[in-house]
Amino acid sequence: MGAPLLELDRVSKRFGSVVVAESLSLTVRTGDALGIVGPNGAGKSSLFSVISGDLAPNSGEVRFDGRPVNALGAAARCRLGIGRTYQVPRSFEHMTVFENVLVAAGRGGGLAGRPAAELAAAVLEQTGLRVEANRPAARLGLLQRKRLELARAIATRPRLLMLDEVAAGLTDPEVRQLIEVVNGVRREGVAVIWVEHVVRALVGVVDRLICLAGGRFIGDGSPAEVLASPEVKEVFLGTGYGVGDTPGGGAGR
Ligand SMILES: Nc1ncnc2c1ncn2[C@@H]1O[C@H](COP(=O)(O)OP(=O)(O)O)[C@@H](O)[C@H]1O
Ligand SMILES: [Mg+2]
Repeated sequence: MGAPLLELDRVSKRFGSVVVAESLSLTVRTGDALGIVGPNGAGKSSLFSVISGDLAPNSGEVRFDGRPVNALGAAARCRLGIGRTYQVPRSFEHMTVFENVLVAAGRGGGLAGRPAAELAAAVLEQTGLRVEANRPAARLGLLQRKRLELARAIATRPRLLMLDEVAAGLTDPEVRQLIEVVNGVRREGVAVIWVEHVVRALVGVVDRLICLAGGRFIGDGSPAEVLASPEVKEVFLGTGYGVGDTPGGGAGR
């Protein structure tokens, strides 16, 4: 078991009367791969933003590597090693794919000059974007946009990588490629938290699953255990997600 890397200590977040996190506590250790599922609007992306420093919690503490980071902004947290993708991609549209990844290697990864360029090139290779290197981000299709979002996050050299619905809309072969990329990142010792509705993608990577609903975590255990829990099933019913897409369902595996 690795050392605690990310700790949430009774973190609460609400938007007006909408409670997205109610006194949530969580420890993610070095080497962990945690999946988070939950209905739309549950607050999964908001939770990532509280961790990455894009949103302040109403109360509670976020610690990274044993150190409180509440007072740090997103750029400082990124340099500490908290990397994330955004559900709505945030690449620089007028820049090429390579330039986008280079900026991430510089600002987030703390590299300059040749090492930055070499890292950017390696990450493009790793994420299957090498052939798109010189295309403006604005001209990418959905799959390539998702890949660029992932590449930018990897290029910041995170110790914790948070993925927000990077498998949405991908075909089965594309999902399998994505699983390989994420598992490659894991093998380098990076901890992963992956928010995803595409359960067959999640189960290819994570060994622990949590469901976020009503501001609370429901279930915490192996993906099979958590997906089999009546409470979690109930939360998924009617959402069109999760049901029939559980491990052992066969799809994409
Ligand atoms: N910046 C914001 N200001 C106000 N409400 C927000 C903001 N961000 C998210 N919300 C609301 O918080 C809830 C959770 O959103 P989100 O975190 O995107 O959920 P999820 O990622 O689980 O679908 C939704 O009701 C959403 O409308
Ligand atoms: Mg979301």
